[in-house]
Amino acid sequence: MDKLRIRGGNRLQGTLQVAGAKNAALPIMAAALLTHDELQLENVPRLADTATMARLLSGMGVAVERDGQGQRIHLRAKDLASVEAPYQLVKTMRASILVLGPLLARQGEARVSLPGGCAIGSRPVDQHLKGLQALGADLHIDQGYIVARRSAGRRLRGAHIVTDLVTVTGTENLMMAATLAEGETVIENAAREPEVVDLAACLNRMGARVRGAGSDRIVIEGVERLHGASHRIISDRIESATFLVAVAATGGDVTLVSAAPETLDAVLDKLREAGADVQLGTDWVRVRMDRRPRAVSLRTAPYPGFPTDAQAQFLALNCIADGVARISENIFENRFMHVLELQRLGAQIDIEGHTAMVRGVEQLSGATVMATDLRASASLVIAGLIAQGDTTIERIYHLDRGYEAMEQRLNALGAQIDRVR
Ligand code: EPU
Repeated sequence: MDKLRIRGGNRLQGTLQVAGAKNAALPIMAAALLTHDELQLENVPRLADTATMARLLSGMGVAVERDGQGQRIHLRAKDLASVEAPYQLVKTMRASILVLGPLLARQGEARVSLPGGCAIGSRPVDQHLKGLQALGADLHIDQGYIVARRSAGRRLRGAHIVTDLVTVTGTENLMMAATLAEGETVIENAAREPEVVDLAACLNRMGARVRGAGSDRIVIEGVERLHGASHRIISDRIESATFLVAVAATGGDVTLVSAAPETLDAVLDKLREAGADVQLGTDWVRVRMDRRPRAVSLRTAPYPGFPTDAQAQFLALNCIADGVARISENIFENRFMHVLELQRLGAQIDIEGHTAMVRGVEQLSGATVMATDLRASASLVIAGLIAQGDTTIERIYHLDRGYEAMEQRLNALGAQIDRVR
């Protein structure tokens, strides 16, 4: 299994191109199931997760072609041979659940493995199921699989759905299912994430009638069929946040291009609070840091609040900051797995319930640590960049799920990272 070996102590400097958003690409790829025609996507990030989604779709009979450097992908779900998302794939990527809504709407049936446990919390899918039932689906669990059907010869029917909590993929699944339902669907308490907005934009290009995405009330007027389209995936705000925190933590100066600064408000505010100089244009962000960071407290919340997917990275920055930070995780119940690993590097962190208190130390010292999930891995990379000496990160397949060639891109900015087997 691959590991990363990081020699700490280098400042990051230069320019970096941000990739397309993983969490927009995954639901949008699943949306290809909604039409017989071709969906052409640009700016698809080359990640283990997008490869898994491609494998899942091609297992159902979707023709998948990548061209150019692999960031353009053509998907054509002309005739589907299977409506099953097997456990072997779902267990490696929970976002596989995103095929449930489209399959049900288009084929009238789906068999999707329940994802099971997860390193960051229990992550149930009850809200997806409750919403699909409201749209007229008949659901039951059989041998670990969600078996879903709509009445023969009938479309799903529009409904008024209020989700019990804000769920990103739940909102996306219901939105996709509702595009082909009979009548109007209203989703209240909808997720407002930019990735939901991007999916809605793609669905509308395919002929859907979705309004209100980006607010907590999304209205979908069902249509009889959707058609092919071409769509460019938005820039990855979590990848941007990760690199910007790495820059601030190492006292660097980096400009991100192809970024979407309007999706980064909460993150940029915290970087300024830490003492970074932040400059913005329409599609670029420059962050400069010429001092030891100040400690920054934060609470994760649904968008536009501070993203849970950037919590671990800010926690790493706080490890060497001046002062004490209070980090509250309010989205997932178990998203502090990185803390025990950061402690191995000399970080001083206490966890009480959903809050981590981080007392900044002057210096971390390199050690061998283990990645436990995607964003935890990113925080360990940041910690390795600032630690004295060498840090080895094991199980970095987690990192490859969500970051394109991370070590090569950091090395181009002055880091010293080797991938070793
Ligand atoms: N929840 C339920 N029931 C449901 C759905 C969610 O109780 O039916 C709970 C979850 O357990 C969690 C909270 O609601 O406590 C929010 O979960 P949400 O459904 O919003 O998460 P998700 O849709 O499964 C997406 C991203 C995650 C990101 C979260 C929160 C994708 C593919 N994944 O997950 O991304 O952390 O939203 O913003 O969009 C990552 O990229 O590293 C990642 C984990």
